[in-house]
Amino acid sequence: MKKTTLLYEGKAKKVFKTDDEEKLIVSYKDDATAFNGVKKGSIEEKGSVNNRVSNYLMGLLEKEGIPTHLIEELNERETVVRKVQIVPLEVIVRNIAAGSLSKRLGLEEGTKMASTVLEYCYKNDDLGDPMINDYHIYAMSLATEEELKTIADMSLKINTTLTTYFASINIELVDFKLEFGRTSDGHIILADEISPDTCRFWDKNTGEKLDKDRFRRDLGKVEDAYQEILKRTLGK
Ligand code: C5P
Repeated sequence: MKKTTLLYEGKAKKVFKTDDEEKLIVSYKDDATAFNGVKKGSIEEKGSVNNRVSNYLMGLLEKEGIPTHLIEELNERETVVRKVQIVPLEVIVRNIAAGSLSKRLGLEEGTKMASTVLEYCYKNDDLGDPMINDYHIYAMSLATEEELKTIADMSLKINTTLTTYFASINIELVDFKLEFGRTSDGHIILADEISPDTCRFWDKNTGEKLDKDRFRRDLGKVEDAYQEILKRTLGK
């Protein structure tokens, strides 16, 4: 299988076509953005950490019966994935109040939610990814009722699996973002990435933030946090 033309370049990744219609190659960049592109920078080795951590976590999820786009890690930064049509939703799963939820509802960061919170945002950079509900999703034909049920069920199962896994490496999984895609035969599978860019990870003992909030909030030691996640997950 050969990499051919650049299909798309996003804020954190490039996606290439291949000579196989059903497969794409994702290449992870070190570029970092926050607040819908307003803050820009670079985090050394981020691409390599996110690629390897995301593939490791998707491998864990596959073992639990969650279908993902992962096919094969090519090298430190590149992975072969199944081509899908991305459902234009960001699915946010929250266990502990932080970030925009704390702001919106006046909840102190660190407040444990009595039950898991699922939120949907419409993937649209020009609009700043506004939060929407199931009525908007059906009214805008972003997903069918059956697809959204699959997406919600899968998101909750992913949360259970990942929360247990991260607890075993002494990390609190505060919240995270997922994206899903439709395969050519119409199945919903997990796509995009699961990494320190898309999750909030807090050390269980010290509460130290080990994720992109260190970049967003200028907390320093950004690279160290990404390396720590790599070390705890892959032991490297
Ligand atoms: O900013 P907010 O609190 O809504 O983020 C919730 C979670 O979703 C965080 O883990 C954040 O990293 C992730 N997220 C993301 N991409 C976005 C928005 C949020 O990965 N565009």
